[in-house]
Amino acid sequence: MTTQNSSGAAPVLRIREMTLRFGGLVAVNDLSMDIAGGSITGLIGPNGAGKTTVFNVVTGFYKPTKGVVEFMGQPLTGLPPHRVCAAGLSRTFQNIRLFQNETVLQNVMIGSYVRQKGAWWQTLFAFPAAVREEREIRERSLELLGHLGLAGQADAVSSSLPYGAQRRLEIARALATQPKFLLLDEPAAGMNPQESEELLNFIRRLRDEFDLTILLIEHDMKVVMGVCEDIWVLDRGLLIANGTPSEIRANPQVIEAYLGQTAPRSEVSLKKEAAHA
Ligand SMILES: Nc1ncnc2c1ncn2[C@@H]1O[C@H](COP(=O)(O)OP(=O)(O)OP(=O)(O)O)[C@@H](O)[C@H]1O
Ligand SMILES: [Mg+2]
Repeated sequence: MTTQNSSGAAPVLRIREMTLRFGGLVAVNDLSMDIAGGSITGLIGPNGAGKTTVFNVVTGFYKPTKGVVEFMGQPLTGLPPHRVCAAGLSRTFQNIRLFQNETVLQNVMIGSYVRQKGAWWQTLFAFPAAVREEREIRERSLELLGHLGLAGQADAVSSSLPYGAQRRLEIARALATQPKFLLLDEPAAGMNPQESEELLNFIRRLRDEFDLTILLIEHDMKVVMGVCEDIWVLDRGLLIANGTPSEIRANPQVIEAYLGQTAPRSEVSLKKEAAHA
């Protein structure tokens, strides 16, 4: 299997021979991938395939048993999550991780502190530069909330938002860290068809407006096939396919992997989902 992405563009993220074992279980097995700069790339596969584990290794939440991750030519392997974030990679979580008791605005402002120049205690003593920076962070955060259609809810407690809005808030917080590379773990989970459709258009706009590379884990085939230019498929920790949406749709190994799924989605084959995409 080649590690060259199907678009042939220069990679910004390189994964080489990544393996992560949890005791006897090999969650990710000798995975090599190249993600093209400026692309919207999909990472798909049945439940338990290892997709979230790949995100956790790339973003520094887990150390791989073996292998390397490079971003724009710099090694990321072994860096803690805040250093990976400072290097320009930001993520959302499959299980939403917001500060539930904080306001919507505060959740986004927290993301901005990764780029803050002054020390946090300078704000406490009202140092003019620190106060100015805090004001700028607030304004930028409000602007981001506007982008995500959440400006009207800035002062609401985060836990009071509907599920789809909480997912958008997580994206706003990820953007507040001013990333170059955004990793979205099942952003359409729990969304209704109309929200998923809006998300599809929104992901495209995000890439263009913020000049991002986006890596997307998603079970909703309509979203994956509609927005991704390059798709990588994992099954039980192994890379089984890489290609354009039409190549992946027609790949017998991919169809087999989805048909063999034991989770609820097993009733709906990839073929059927793709036909509706
Ligand atoms: N912290 C952990 N400790 C032990 N096993 C783990 C841990 N995290 C993940 N696993 C196991 O590793 C395998 C891959 O899990 P992962 O969450 O990466 O799958 P996934 O492709 O994201 O699945 P899903 O589509 O259900 O989210 C699974 O068998 C899972 O149970
Ligand atoms: Mg997952």
